[in-house]
Amino acid sequence: MSPLLEVKGLTKRFGGLTANADVAFEVNKGEIVGIIGPNGAGKSTLFDLITGFQPPDAGCVLLDGHDITGLRPDRISRLGVARTFQKLKPFPDLTVTENVIVGALARTSDMKAARERALGSLAFVDLLEKRNQFARELSTGQRKRLELARALATSPRLVLMDEVTGGVDQRSIAALIALVVELKQRGLTIVMIEHNMQVIMGLADRILALHAGRPIAFGAPDEVRSDAAVVDAYLGSVDVAA
Ligand SMILES: Nc1ncnc2c1ncn2[C@@H]1O[C@H](COP(=O)(O)OP(=O)(O)O)[C@@H](O)[C@H]1O
Ligand SMILES: [Mg+2]
Repeated sequence: MSPLLEVKGLTKRFGGLTANADVAFEVNKGEIVGIIGPNGAGKSTLFDLITGFQPPDAGCVLLDGHDITGLRPDRISRLGVARTFQKLKPFPDLTVTENVIVGALARTSDMKAARERALGSLAFVDLLEKRNQFARELSTGQRKRLELARALATSPRLVLMDEVTGGVDQRSIAALIALVVELKQRGLTIVMIEHNMQVIMGLADRILALHAGRPIAFGAPDEVRSDAAVVDAYLGSVDVAA
């Protein structure tokens, strides 16, 4: 069985800074792959390269064996790849439902279908009761769920989540974890950047560790956690101890 997502030799430079250096990993259908690494390791940039928000300087991205490297974000979205953003940017003056409809319209031009899909996504993330509020009125945790609903409304087969639990209180984290588990049970393939070690060690089938743009380990959570290079990269960080 070929992987759903294959990343080979992805490299991205911003001036003199190499944000991604020869990054390679693959994600099988139905798998959860976690991405960890200290701040500035290049995690969000990797998502930008995979989803077409930035062109890579080298390397390629294969989806189901097809080269999607450098395609525009809307094309990649229509191929079934959704992402959430670490820096949330909902349309503040649109309602919650309208924000998610914008996501759904990436896949269908039928307004009624888009609305139904949006409401389905909002129900899934348990945000239906906020549907008529403006996005600007939501708490951080609710915005995270809105962002997830927007991504899911594009009917993806692969979803990339960038720190969905970041800045969210402990109880909401448990609810988000339950959502991720449910998505996996429904057959979705997931790549998640996650700062919280406990969360990712419990959820991921495999973990990719990045450090200063370079992949330093890729494997089962236990292997990665005890990998010498990973421990080194996190030395002095509270994350790995948690
Ligand atoms: N658009 C950009 N222009 C210039 N530098 C960038 C840009 N995006 C990210 N970087 C830099 O690339 C490095 C990796 O950033 P990022 O991928 O956001 O890391 P992470 O998500 O792991 O914290 C950082 O040093 C960051 O400042
Ligand atoms: Mg980031």
